[in-house]
Amino acid sequence: MTVLVTGGAGYIGSHTVLYLKERGIDVVVIDNMKKGHRPAVLDVPMYTGDLADGSTLDEIFQKHDIDSVIHFAADSLVGESVEDPLRYYENNVNGTLQLFKKMLEHSVKKIVFSSTAAVYGEPKSIPIRESDPTFPANPYGETKLAIEKMLKWADQAYGLKSVCLRYFNAAGADPKGRIGEDHQPETHLIPIVLQAALGQRDHVAIYGEDYPTEDGSCVRDYIHVIDLAQAHYLALKKLDQTNESGIYNLGNGQGFSVKQVIEACRRVTDKDIKAIASPRRAGDPAVLIASSQKAEEELGWKPQYTSLDTIVEHAWQWHQNHPNGYNDKE
Ligand code: UFG
Repeated sequence: MTVLVTGGAGYIGSHTVLYLKERGIDVVVIDNMKKGHRPAVLDVPMYTGDLADGSTLDEIFQKHDIDSVIHFAADSLVGESVEDPLRYYENNVNGTLQLFKKMLEHSVKKIVFSSTAAVYGEPKSIPIRESDPTFPANPYGETKLAIEKMLKWADQAYGLKSVCLRYFNAAGADPKGRIGEDHQPETHLIPIVLQAALGQRDHVAIYGEDYPTEDGSCVRDYIHVIDLAQAHYLALKKLDQTNESGIYNLGNGQGFSVKQVIEACRRVTDKDIKAIASPRRAGDPAVLIASSQKAEEELGWKPQYTSLDTIVEHAWQWHQNHPNGYNDKE
């Protein structure tokens, strides 16, 4: 089996590539390298190119015997998407449309798609189930939902089978320390707190202490990046065995507040990390917690690294050894 991984040089993509390789699956990566990191892709054929430019995809489909695709390549920052929505439609929706067209041209009809909890918007009930209403609160979530809908119709019309995985908050790093999380600029909570632990930031801003939660800060469902990788592997297997499409949440099922995350980082790093109460960030729901029961039952998914301290330990190991990340950008 050869799998094409788009966005395979990104954070979740590179961990998934590593996970698949370790299970004997042949992988080919395409990444436009705007956000991806070359050193994150270990021992895998790698093509630099944009999905919208079909020529790189043609070359890959001609050279390699691809039978399925895992599609990560996308812009994925909520705030940025609000400021520049057309960029998100262009890169996420248009790029994906070209990918689907090329897949069909080359008779590749199985795809695992990287979706997000942002499709739900402000949830009506917790934990969130896949059957709950989808009302994205930002263009990022809208573009991911638009692609899920494209997939539904493409299945009906062309038999393009898909598994859409709606991630909650991806965190952690390869437990063996080979690869990790490196975004420029960094906006995600755990790496920001660890940068403060390394002395690279003076403090962490807690975005809002007046939410209707136990300690007033936002609650999120942090899921280890290797557990996400496992779900992609299982989704591929399911597509192979059943040829049935599906949509699954991927979360830990446990919520941790911003303050609890900062506490966990203090415990793990043994550093005094200064935290300062700050105004709310626009568009943040108070609580996002997944029900992942469906993924557990239908994919046989069993998250391995569910403890917040373990997630932070793995991230900390990477950040300590790579204080400047991959250091591969100008
Ligand atoms: N936060 C802070 N201070 C910071 C950074 C973040 O208090 O310096 C808070 C945020 O307000 C939020 C929580 O920490 O309450 C987590 O924030 P992240 O930016 O790490 O993650 P988000 O929950 O905003 O978003 C992530 C992904 C999105 C995805 C979403 C789905 O980045 O792509 O999860 O749940 F859509």
